[in-house]
Amino acid sequence: MGKYNSYDRIADLYDHYVKADYDLDFWRAEAEGAGEVLEVTAGTGRVSLPLARAGHRVTAVDISYGLLKQLTEKAGPEKLPVETVHADMRDFDLKRTFPLVIVPFHSLEEIHDDCDVTAALRRVRVHIAPGGRAIVTLHNPAMQSGGDACMLRLMSDSELPNGNRLLFWHSRVYNATTREGMSYQLYEEYDVDGLLLRKRLFTPHFHLRDRAEIEVLADRAGLRVTRAWSGYGHEEWSGEGRYMIFELVGREE
Ligand SMILES: C[S@@+](CC[C@H](N)C(=O)[O-])C[C@H]1O[C@@H](n2cnc3c(N)ncnc32)[C@H](O)[C@@H]1O
Repeated sequence: MGKYNSYDRIADLYDHYVKADYDLDFWRAEAEGAGEVLEVTAGTGRVSLPLARAGHRVTAVDISYGLLKQLTEKAGPEKLPVETVHADMRDFDLKRTFPLVIVPFHSLEEIHDDCDVTAALRRVRVHIAPGGRAIVTLHNPAMQSGGDACMLRLMSDSELPNGNRLLFWHSRVYNATTREGMSYQLYEEYDVDGLLLRKRLFTPHFHLRDRAEIEVLADRAGLRVTRAWSGYGHEEWSGEGRYMIFELVGREE
């Protein structure tokens, strides 16, 4: 198996810098009536927890122990029906199926090799109940700028629960020819006197694919696209949106 982005080293910081909520209404709407949802690459539960609050039983799969620990700690006090499973999305078998399987927040892009994407999509296929479906969200490579923005930008300046100050610096490189890129994430933790206590560097890589490539890989995994949207507001597919959101079902259904 190829390498993956290890979020473990920044698991305690993830919720401090990922504040995105632009997709949550989409997921709540799509999950309506499902009752049970399998989230693959659930992380700290940014999507799982709102779905559990909306009344669904959620199974949350992720490869990062650290992120899943954060999820469990947040779900506990509210007694939310979320079960975490530590597993690689390319190689897991829960021996049960779900009416809805989701791979949110463009996480499939974190898989470099096409064979591994097919393996992950096969795992998605195996876990879809008869009559069920999957939804996978991705960035549209056609709408990515190919710049080599190597300049770190200060993205946030926040206070940690221990009173220390966290500066989050970010930049991103993307090669439009290979469609590969890397995000530079630098975390600096200062005490109240401004003394630097700790620096952490996290450089997750990503690989974008266009719709045609995704459809080929999905087909190899026994899936077919039944619907496609260009955005989280359910914008109909145009090929020109920032996002590519696919609904998939088993090919034989
Ligand atoms: C961008 S984060 C998204 C997390 C969460 N879904 C969210 O919306 O905040 C990508 C997630 O994919 C997970 N991931 C990356 N490679 C994985 C793999 N091979 N198997 C399972 N999870 C993986 C990471 O641990 C991380 O939680």
